[in-house]
Amino acid sequence: MLTVAVLISGSGSNLRALLEAASHPDFPARIVVVGADRDAEGLAHAEAFGIPSFTVPFRSFDNREAWGEELARQLDVWTPDLIVLSGLMRLLPAALVARYAPQIINTHPAYLPEFPGAHGVRDALAAGVTQTGASVIVVDDGVDSGPILAQERVPVQEDDTEHALHERIKPVERRLLIDVVRRVATGELVLTH
Ligand code: GRF
Repeated sequence: MLTVAVLISGSGSNLRALLEAASHPDFPARIVVVGADRDAEGLAHAEAFGIPSFTVPFRSFDNREAWGEELARQLDVWTPDLIVLSGLMRLLPAALVARYAPQIINTHPAYLPEFPGAHGVRDALAAGVTQTGASVIVVDDGVDSGPILAQERVPVQEDDTEHALHERIKPVERRLLIDVVRRVATGELVLTH
């Protein structure tokens, strides 16, 4: 059974979807811990599903590297087979990526390599594109630059706000993420750098 750690910063709706999928007895992976870089609203989903969680507040550390070292210590308690970044709004330090790569994946609300970074939805709207997308990638030490594992186009509508477009993208992200975790767990998908 593949063990999974999920890292979040926000509402955790993608985490919730993964928790729901993993609660089915036939799902080949289980979430063993949820971590956050702040007191994230999404931690409530871990509690609701009886999954342990931890918080490593970014602001409590002098620098990204020190934060990353504590994050690694917390993750090592659980020795997860796979780490899923699902709304973690932090770049991981290179040492952390090197320690776990390629077993770290990330969801991104754009059709990478289009619109990488923290504002993929806003950037797609600003660019005036008629379609954007959702992607699941292997995390490398760049910004949303790792190998693409799954992605799907999502239409942009004339009157879309950032929120409306993001809420249309998220269900696609969730479906792609759950499928990628399932395929990694069954060995159908082997992660590479
Ligand atoms: C997701 O779209 C994720 O790809 C992006 O931030 C959003 C997090 O949403 N990095 P949620 O916290 O899962 O609701």
